Amino acid sequence: MKITVAESAGFCFGVKRAVEECFHQIENADGPVYTFGPIIHNDQVVEELNRKGVQVIYSEEELEQVHRGVIIIRSHGVPERIQKKMESLGVKVVDATCPFVKKIHTIVRKAGEEGKTVIIAGSPDHPEVQGIMGWAAGPVYAVQSAEEMERLELPARTEAVLVAQTTFHAGKFEDIVDIFRKKEYYNSVNNTVCSATDKRQTEAREIAQQVDAMVVIGGRHSSNTRKLYEICMEECKNTYFIETLVDLDTKPFQSFSHVGITAGASTPKSIIEEVHRKMSEEQTFQEMLDSSFKTVRN
Ligand code: F3S
Repeated sequence: MKITVAESAGFCFGVKRAVEECFHQIENADGPVYTFGPIIHNDQVVEELNRKGVQVIYSEEELEQVHRGVIIIRSHGVPERIQKKMESLGVKVVDATCPFVKKIHTIVRKAGEEGKTVIIAGSPDHPEVQGIMGWAAGPVYAVQSAEEMERLELPARTEAVLVAQTTFHAGKFEDIVDIFRKKEYYNSVNNTVCSATDKRQTEAREIAQQVDAMVVIGGRHSSNTRKLYEICMEECKNTYFIETLVDLDTKPFQSFSHVGITAGASTPKSIIEEVHRKMSEEQTFQEMLDSSFKTVRN
């Protein structure tokens, strides 16, 4: 069995930067270290950080109880109102918002100041989208599909600015753009799908087209991993979503001759390597069994 691991699998630049910031603060902070929300959508990394003393703040009420130490803003970013609240607590605030997400905050803030409506292609439940919405100074909407864009009714001659959640499905964004243009809003489209996401999705699709089975590794709550899974499923029906090695059942793979592996932006390299190693070992074991079976028969 041949195994192809996507080069783009695993931590992206923004996630790596935020996780490294946590480890830096563990060593250097004067007082407790907090993150606003889990630093990434990966339980194993969050648990490891927790063992080293990093505490997760889950709500504004919990935030109000913090009076010393450091609060780290994760790569998803937070609404402006939350950032201001953090700064008012008198603690050190470390902003690990990914620069690509920060760029979207700047676009939507400017749009609002100019009296324009903001439309975000993304999931309204996702923290990144909630953060972006919180920087818009005027009307703001989130749409997840071309159908939702079609249904969105805004007053005639609305000037609207369209942006995308950084991990949005590139193809679905193009479909939304088509409807946006048809509606003849002020024509400002900002394709803010992150190039790392784009590259990861393109590579996953290309590998999925060539293999018999695909393994997608990532956190259950990671929307970018779910999108990778959807893309791979479109190309390869034997696609398996696993969070860690524990979820991997290698039996179905014994009948495949070529398997691909990819992983979401919050998946540590160590988990990808474990899965790869396990599949390679299984393959070697299976080859040994096959060859001894042949020897016995001969
Ligand atoms: Fe940033 Fe792109 Fe990762 S926006 S957090 S580098 S997926």
